[in-house]
Amino acid sequence: MMGRLAGKVALITGGAGGCGLAASELFAREGAKVAILDLPSSDGSRIAERLTAEGGSACFIATDVSNADQVQSAVKQVEQRLGAITVLMNHAGTIHVGPFLETREEDWDRLMSINVKSMFLVTRAVLPGMIAAGGGSVLCTSSISGVVGTPMEVLYCTSKGACHMFARAISVEFRDRHIRSNAICPGFIGTAHGRRELELLREHGTHITDDMLQGMQGRLCDPAEVAKAALFLASDDASFVNGAHLFVDNGYTAA
Ligand SMILES: NC(=O)c1ccc[n+]([C@@H]2O[C@H](COP(=O)([O-])OP(=O)(O)OC[C@H]3O[C@@H](n4cnc5c(N)ncnc54)[C@H](O)[C@@H]3O)[C@@H](O)[C@H]2O)c1
Repeated sequence: MMGRLAGKVALITGGAGGCGLAASELFAREGAKVAILDLPSSDGSRIAERLTAEGGSACFIATDVSNADQVQSAVKQVEQRLGAITVLMNHAGTIHVGPFLETREEDWDRLMSINVKSMFLVTRAVLPGMIAAGGGSVLCTSSISGVVGTPMEVLYCTSKGACHMFARAISVEFRDRHIRSNAICPGFIGTAHGRRELELLREHGTHITDDMLQGMQGRLCDPAEVAKAALFLASDDASFVNGAHLFVDNGYTAA
């Protein structure tokens, strides 16, 4: 299959939901072999079957990407089934909303594990094969929350600030081995995560009305718009784009 990712093998964490799903679909259409790593409770299996039936090549490996053993085993399986991974999209993540002074240590550990430690575990497992294959592209889903604080989101913002810097530091350490690493920083997206975040913020008194959202970013971002930005960074069109933070926020952070 020809396309902008022809010949590439893409591993997408959280690839069965939200923007991860949009990226799985787009990357498969653009010719990549796609490995979806997502939770056992996700729709990953059905999605991989559908993408294959549509003429692409995809597999699903049920994985909690915050668990080191599961990540090691999943990456090995992907390499055996599809070949060396040349595109890694570290997308899986979740939210915590609540007053900072009520944040428990277990909330901190859980969010940092799912949002940050997962990037460390998956990237560490994937890079040796990617380097041996001659190089590749790492994408890390950060957020506007990596640079903008929101009340009730100290923990989430901290985790996204770490993702933001993780992408940048990897780019510097691995540039000489032909690895590009970039962060994607979306604004509010119309996914399960985005809608839940808005609801939770409202429950905690940070009431973001539709008018406010309109003022900040015009409208909710569509998951496909994040996937298209990811496609650019994953593809050879971005051959000299390394260590960048690509904001997909319709000017939210520019204002
Ligand atoms: N939705 C937004 O408004 C928004 C904005 C900026 C950044 N983001 C970032 O995008 C990412 C996901 O957002 P989305 O909107 O696509 O969300 P989503 O909730 O629709 O999808 C997230 C996917 O990740 C999977 N996942 C969660 N924990 C996992 C784990 N431990 N192991 C494996 N898979 C796991 C879920 O099952 C789901 O399929 C997060 O990193 C989030 O911080 C979202």
